[in-house]
Amino acid sequence: MHKYIEKVLIEEKQILDKCEELGKQITEDYKGSKDLMLVGLLKGSIPFMGDLMKCINLELTVEYMDVSSYEGTVNSEVKIIKDLDSPVSGKDVLIVEDVVDTGKTLKLVMKLIKDRGAKSVKVVSLVDKPINRKVELNADYVGFTIGNDFIVGYGLDYFEYLRNIRYIGVLKRDIYEK
Ligand code: IMP
Ligand code: MG
Repeated sequence: MHKYIEKVLIEEKQILDKCEELGKQITEDYKGSKDLMLVGLLKGSIPFMGDLMKCINLELTVEYMDVSSYEGTVNSEVKIIKDLDSPVSGKDVLIVEDVVDTGKTLKLVMKLIKDRGAKSVKVVSLVDKPINRKVELNADYVGFTIGNDFIVGYGLDYFEYLRNIRYIGVLKRDIYEK
């Protein structure tokens, strides 16, 4: 095991099986869709997007967006670091996320995409941490629901490191409590 990781929370095999399961469900749910666009939020969603998209047996396009949310004077606001390369109007957008925590980022991104005229906007998140939710928001498809652990690996980072670990692990507490 990696020296910064306390324990393995979700094995690589479990993740890949989950991608198959989610992919099947998404294929079924979107089979009537004329224009499906997967929108990955950078950078954490990259491995999940890679595995999930191969399990969706439909015509689709893939786009990425990089945003950061911050507390504005009245509400949380979103800053676009990298925007989508093509318009979303009239498309069925499925946002692909690594983990939903407070939900703030996702809520803002969903509104932004709706305001741009998407036909529908849904979310698939590999991991959900409902305990930390600060806004009303639920992903439409969830891979794994966990507690309050800080997780790394399979795209998830600790100060940009550990994204390349194959499994999802819990970061050792003494790493961030030092
Ligand atoms: P939120 O839902 O707006 O709080 O933000 C979710 C984002 O915070 C995710 O997309 C991750 O980038 C990051 N994040 C939340 N929890 C974790 C974690 O346990 N490990 C690594 N990144 C996390
Ligand atoms: Mg993220």
